[in-house]
Amino acid sequence: MVDLTGRDFLKLLDYTSEEIQYLLDMSARLKREKKAGSVNGAPLHKGSFTGKNIALIFEKNSTRTSCSFEVAASDLGMGSTYLGPTGSQIGTKESIEDTARVLSRMYDGIEYRGFGQELVEELAKYADVPVWNGLTNEFHPTQMLADMLTIEENFGSLKGLKLTYMGDARYNMGNSYMVVCAKLGMHYTACCPSAYFPTPELVETCKAIAAETGGSITLTENVAEGCKDADVVCTDVWVSMGEPEEVWEQRIHDLKPYQVNREAMSYAKPTAIFLHCLPSFHNTQTQVGKEIAEKYGITEMEVTDEVFESAQSKVFDEAENRMHTIKAVVYTTLGGK
Ligand code: CP
Ligand code: NVA
Repeated sequence: MVDLTGRDFLKLLDYTSEEIQYLLDMSARLKREKKAGSVNGAPLHKGSFTGKNIALIFEKNSTRTSCSFEVAASDLGMGSTYLGPTGSQIGTKESIEDTARVLSRMYDGIEYRGFGQELVEELAKYADVPVWNGLTNEFHPTQMLADMLTIEENFGSLKGLKLTYMGDARYNMGNSYMVVCAKLGMHYTACCPSAYFPTPELVETCKAIAAETGGSITLTENVAEGCKDADVVCTDVWVSMGEPEEVWEQRIHDLKPYQVNREAMSYAKPTAIFLHCLPSFHNTQTQVGKEIAEKYGITEMEVTDEVFESAQSKVFDEAENRMHTIKAVVYTTLGGK
């Protein structure tokens, strides 16, 4: 019987396949229960968490992750405090270690979104309460639960499915897909220039896990081969939060051939779905999208508007599932059963 009470949620490498599947099953249950509505006007599960509070630290911007934690907390009857990139003492006047010890005295759990993975690991080391990784440069584990739940909803199960990631495969999204696919017996393909392949150490770690679960890890520069018979094609922004503006030109040059467009999708199975963690540059309706279009003459980046808006695109189901899966992480690590 899986029991996650008191556990941190820092990266999926720390979790067994059984524990990840347990979180997915719990997410599906909490989603069903929320859709079914409240009991006597009170949100489901509210009772068990009354009086608890969680702290949400965001050193980088967020829409989905921050809103998911806040709604999840509210649905569970808990209070939450948002600490944004400015306005708190964290990092400027107070160390991670001291912050962890202070917040542990007031809160029952702490979410952290920031830069290096070592920061969230350090926070967890000094905190007495569960710490949840809301995204680091290296990993985005809560996003993976939402993606896997969305895939399960579309295909019924996960084992044996082929997932192809197009783009910068050495950053948080690419790394995390490789780990979760290995853990769940899926076939992961990173499709990008070799300079964007994940580190050999992480690839070896994931290959060893995949050998146990029946999954596989493939790295390729060839789009037709990479997307061939894929069940899931996914991508992410070409330049991530915290990266310098100067890298745009090189990224556009290197990653444009790996844009998810009609041709890339044509190599995948006809039943394939498209996923993107969002936000996405699929048109010029954003400040950055406009600036890039003016500067480099490109109006769609990692995914074309056509694919983004197609029936194969499940990005808004995926976004909704952030909340149900984050709720499952908070619920189970705080002792919910
Ligand atoms: N996908 C995701 O993490 O979105 P936010 O940056 O809006 O939280
Ligand atoms: N790779 C992106 C993911 C955003 C959810 C970033 O780190 O900005």
